[in-house]
Amino acid sequence: MTDLEFQPKIIGFLCNWCSYRAADLAGSTRTRYAPNVRYVRVMCSGRVDPAFVMKALSLGADGVLVAGCHPGECHYLEQNYKTMRRMTMLQHTLRQLGVEEGRVRLVWASAAEGHRLAKAIDEMVDRIRSLGPLRWPAGWQERPEVLAAIERVASEHASAAQEVAT
Ligand code: FES
Repeated sequence: MTDLEFQPKIIGFLCNWCSYRAADLAGSTRTRYAPNVRYVRVMCSGRVDPAFVMKALSLGADGVLVAGCHPGECHYLEQNYKTMRRMTMLQHTLRQLGVEEGRVRLVWASAAEGHRLAKAIDEMVDRIRSLGPLRWPAGWQERPEVLAAIERVASEHASAAQEVAT
């Protein structure tokens, strides 16, 4: 499969109040952008549990986009600040698991920023196309270093949870 034949599958979690409307606007203004994102509408980017992202990747997505209101404009006060912190931690974990930078991306787009969202999607599709299919978790067996990283992360989390409990 050449780079041009590969069509990345991307799951996009979009906040109902801004980014989902930005996607609507991009559609209604006939903005041209890559059709590779399957949208999941959530009430707020803060609703996106990191487990949703991991699950999407493990079920065959090549990338995950999380999009929400700009900082300071979240309809649920400060939930998108929580999203920012979660995404930073998630990116760190994904790096340890061998998932390349750029496969998971956080974007802010207001309801009036259809172009901004479309541009971010195009950039993401280009980046993932250059990386190739993720094939996760099928690749785990082929890459023992990824399995070792998963075990390391699991044991770090187990010890952190134990420290909190004591
Ligand atoms: S309501 Fe849009 S990010 Fe919170």
